[in-house]
Amino acid sequence: METWDALRARRNVRRYADRSIAKEDLDRILEAARRTPSSMNEQPWDFVVVTDRERLRQLADIWKYASHVAYSAATVALVMPVTEPGEDRDLINYDLGQATMSIMLAAADLGIGSGHASVGDQDLARRILDLPADRECPVLVALGYPDDRPITPISRPNRRPIDDVVHKETW
Ligand SMILES: Cc1cc2nc3c(=O)[nH]c(=O)nc-3n(C[C@H](O)[C@H](O)[C@H](O)COP(=O)(O)O)c2cc1C
Repeated sequence: METWDALRARRNVRRYADRSIAKEDLDRILEAARRTPSSMNEQPWDFVVVTDRERLRQLADIWKYASHVAYSAATVALVMPVTEPGEDRDLINYDLGQATMSIMLAAADLGIGSGHASVGDQDLARRILDLPADRECPVLVALGYPDDRPITPISRPNRRPIDDVVHKETW
């Protein structure tokens, strides 16, 4: 898919077809995550890929809006060092946000849907994913082929109008 098409086609997909993701496609999505830019090239992330159905079901309990994770073909848990506010926490979250988008665009490029899930219960995440005590998981990205409509460019996105969000030269 062209980059511009992938950008316009990406949307949150929360209903997945019963179809697995080929290893080379999952590898490419993770390679996109690895290539993400980060502040000072610190690469503060780790990515835990989950495909085991029972573990995906457990992860779905991590947050009240994470139920789609249970049905995903794979879910990537983005992991960061436990960091106090005022340290590098804002920058690390920014870096992980960029990694999220890399994952989602690489998936869209392959016709694979993706869906964020925030993490409400860090202790549960740590237990399910066997994370060290000095790591936390701010977000999951569920992946799977959509069960509704294919990943194709959206002509009328539900976004604020361009003139409302773009300011030329000054506010
Ligand atoms: C930081 C962040 C956290 C999100 N958490 C959730 C979530 O827990 N569950 C969910 O279903 N969607 C979640 N979303 C998805 C947003 O609701 C979605 O991106 C937004 O409504 C725009 O829709 P679109 O992605 O289909 O364009 C999250 C998105 C972001 C950026």
